[in-house]
Amino acid sequence: MLATLAYILPLVYGLQGADVVLSCSLIEEGGGMGGMMGGGMFKRTPATLVFRDLVDNAGLSPELVTPFNPPETPNADDLIFELLLPSIQIPDADSLLHADCNEQNIVCEISRFVPRDADADSLPAHFIGSVQLEGAGLSVTLVLQTSPSETPESDRPPLMQSKLNLPLSQSGTLLTAVVFVVFSRVPSVVAPIGGDVLLDCGFRQKDSIPGQDVALEWRIQHRGNGRKVLDMKVRENEGEVGSDVLVEREGTSAEADLLVREGNASLTLQRLKVSDEGTYICTVGSGEFQTQQVVQVHITQAPLVTLSEEKLTFQDKEPKKLSCECHRYYPLDVQVEWLSQRPSDEEPISFSEESSLSSHRQHSDGTYSLSSHLTLRPNEHPPETVVTCRVSHTALDTPTEVALTVGKPEPENVFWTVVLMVMISVVFLYQAFKMQTAGPVIKEA
Ligand SMILES: *[C@@H]1O[C@H](CO)[C@@H](O)[C@H](O)[C@H]1NC(C)=O
Repeated sequence: MLATLAYILPLVYGLQGADVVLSCSLIEEGGGMGGMMGGGMFKRTPATLVFRDLVDNAGLSPELVTPFNPPETPNADDLIFELLLPSIQIPDADSLLHADCNEQNIVCEISRFVPRDADADSLPAHFIGSVQLEGAGLSVTLVLQTSPSETPESDRPPLMQSKLNLPLSQSGTLLTAVVFVVFSRVPSVVAPIGGDVLLDCGFRQKDSIPGQDVALEWRIQHRGNGRKVLDMKVRENEGEVGSDVLVEREGTSAEADLLVREGNASLTLQRLKVSDEGTYICTVGSGEFQTQQVVQVHITQAPLVTLSEEKLTFQDKEPKKLSCECHRYYPLDVQVEWLSQRPSDEEPISFSEESSLSSHRQHSDGTYSLSSHLTLRPNEHPPETVVTCRVSHTALDTPTEVALTVGKPEPENVFWTVVLMVMISVVFLYQAFKMQTAGPVIKEA
């Protein structure tokens, strides 16, 4: 009988969905030594986050579906957070599953959380789980609520987790329900100056009460400065959505309708400027829960590259100056390389060492300009040599190249010789003509 049960259970789990097991850290403030502002000491303890049935495994290949196996003997020192997702669907949750399999780096941190109007020691206890896929990907902040412990089948009191002093389940895990989620599926965006951008942020709540206020705040943090960008309070009443909105930046908006009806807290920023660059914090509050998600905005603008000369010819033995100008780019880092290819060269040769960079200039719109100067000598750059300025910048997929070909010098001496010869011929012909007309008439004998 027991044997059959043990056989059926994993099968049942398997049918429900795939589990995702993440290595995390429990972060605790403390150590008692950190006295400085925000520089408090943090203690990290290894922990495990288990998402039960995170994704529907229909259509998943069996090797992706590895059910979580709890430890054989429950251990009071283990920190295993077993997450049940009762009515919350995390969008794009399958990317977590795939990241788990592809060994993509996942940052996972858990910390204690006290909801509004709650006591620090009251039960159920709450935690914040923050999960980020390294690189672009999903970023989720979860509010976890400990589930009431199962009614023990024996009279044995439940095992208590040694650090948190919370009852463990029969299998030695901390059973928690995900009650609130704030997520971003695009936690980092790159956009050009003048462009529009949508900062993706959304939330899900386990038990949302109709008519409940939803508060949304977007802030920007950049180089130690923070400011509010948008503040919105929305309430849905009998199908009517009412909202109070405060916008601190022109061309900024969020949709009150989407916020209450779809949990879409995304922010639109129009006509981006360099000053819009920074870390945006999307804070959503609903009921007793409030948590946030971070979206990075990077502004880029590709340089316009030009050469100071359109044509270059060495008229005498004098060297010539050439500049490569990079106009109005952002961010600051730009690389300028000079290449030269003589007719006899198979490949262009870099000769950037001979160049010198101007200091960069910053324009009022925050963009930069910079020039690279070069002195070209005729013996090193014979006619037909192609001189190229190659500029690399983060806004460019491939470097921009501008080039010119060294021209043939005008054959000055030859020119004057020709002119002289023509003049002599003209004079000669004229003389001959005159002699013919004015000369003695040759009479017939
Ligand atoms: C929010 O709505 C916008 C526009 O419809 C959409 O592009 C975006 O994916 C949505 N984001 C979330 C988190 O629902």
